Amino acid sequence: MSESIILQTEHLGILTPDGAALLSDVSLKVPKRQMVHLVGESGSGKSLTLKAVMGLVPSGFSVSGTMRLSGEPFAAGQVRGRRITMVFQDPGASFDPLYTVGFHIREVLVSVRGLSSDSARVETERLLEVVGLRPSDASLYPHEMSGGMKQRAAVALALAPEPELILLDEPTTALDPTVERRILSLIADLVEHVGVSVLLVTHDLSVVSRMGGLVAVMYGGMIMETGEVEEVLSAPEHPYTIALMEAAPFGGTVRPIPGDVLPPSLRTGCPFHNRCPEATDICHGTVPEVRRHAGGREVRCHLR
Ligand SMILES: Nc1ncnc2c1ncn2[C@@H]1O[C@H](COP(=O)(O)OP(=O)(O)OP(=O)(O)O)[C@@H](O)[C@H]1O
Ligand SMILES: [Mg+2]
Repeated sequence: MSESIILQTEHLGILTPDGAALLSDVSLKVPKRQMVHLVGESGSGKSLTLKAVMGLVPSGFSVSGTMRLSGEPFAAGQVRGRRITMVFQDPGASFDPLYTVGFHIREVLVSVRGLSSDSARVETERLLEVVGLRPSDASLYPHEMSGGMKQRAAVALALAPEPELILLDEPTTALDPTVERRILSLIADLVEHVGVSVLLVTHDLSVVSRMGGLVAVMYGGMIMETGEVEEVLSAPEHPYTIALMEAAPFGGTVRPIPGDVLPPSLRTGCPFHNRCPEATDICHGTVPEVRRHAGGREVRCHLR
């Protein structure tokens, strides 16, 4: 069972230099050949979770907990760019504007996979085809590509080291809806045909419902609910997930839920207690534990 889990974080926490908890007890599993969506309002800790895995947490912050890749513990950053790669929100962020897209990909193939320069050339063209670009696009500079092409090229670059896991942080928010759909279906294809695992941060519940897989709902630096997409979206159990679904009734972009997010320094108990319609005294005073429900659903709520 455990070898089918590619990434597992256990009780991952991040404290600011002032001691405020930005992430608390984040225990997340990404199974082999699966897509896991990370959703939640702005500031809930989605990007920080990816940064912790990549070893890109700002200096001065302290990180606690453990992370495992295919069962083996690893230190933050140790597997970055090899066994785990990342695609950023800004399609240009993966590239140095002074070099062609092909140069970037070949460089990874030679330095990480040890290919000869001839093999790297052939493999670069193959990777570009995998993401729906032309082999000849290897000679283009990033500024000669549209946003959609650049994001495809960024995915090709992320595939180059043959990683076990690709992290994508809102990879389509900078793109128009048609291009977004194509990129998302490319990502779904990679999971199915290349067999890579994907952890995808998104704001958009319609993306989650369209793509399926597993979902983890974050709030206030904690994971509140996890489960199969279909089940969580059709029957949310955590009051925050319920509020999130009500804020985006037809899917679509997550809109603000009434009330304000408590700043990390003022959080006590459940981070959602001040906005939760069902909160009782225990919710104010005690952080809820994660409970396992039927069907593998996990819910962090005193009342469920
Ligand atoms: N470098 C930093 N210094 C101080 N606080 C930070 C830093 N980076 C993130 N934070 C804080 O950590 C929390 C989580 O941030 P994170 O970027 O992970 O949110 P997010 O869920 O990705 O939000 P968004 O949807 O807006 O991208 C926020 O409260 C944010 O203000
Ligand atoms: Mg973010």
